Amino acid sequence: KPIFVLNGPNLNLLGIRKPDIYGHTTLADIQATLRAQAAELGLSIEFMQSNHEGTLIDEIQRARTEGSAIIINPAAYTHTSVAIHDALEAAELPIVEVHLSNVHRRESFRHHSYVSLQASAVIAGAGAQGYELALSYLARQLQPAG
Ligand code: DQA
Repeated sequence: KPIFVLNGPNLNLLGIRKPDIYGHTTLADIQATLRAQAAELGLSIEFMQSNHEGTLIDEIQRARTEGSAIIINPAAYTHTSVAIHDALEAAELPIVEVHLSNVHRRESFRHHSYVSLQASAVIAGAGAQGYELALSYLARQLQPAG
């Protein structure tokens, strides 16, 4: 089963929006890097971005039945969405929350995450590399014990 990599609002503007904070890497670059890394690990990924909360929830619900784990950067919904929290809870899958920026160094409204309550691991401030770290963590987690 694939690992679902889900990206929230405004992340389609990655590389253009506030490069001082979010870097010059585009979401297409991240997707390509992750696909190559997944192939090396013998894994597959489903990669998507949406600006819409409900669309992200539909995708989390799809991951619940069709996926093995979720990597999610919920972007601004991190700090607002009980609905995304509930969808992740219902998924009962390993979840890694990723933020490009170190949200704890930024405005106080970014310090609280609804998603962290459901995440096995949280990676913030590592830039685009955060997604690679998340995938390598999950690859080991998903390895059958033995
Ligand atoms: C973000 C951090 C959020 O606070 C912000 O709303 C984003 C991106 C990050 O990746 O650093 O859109 O999730």
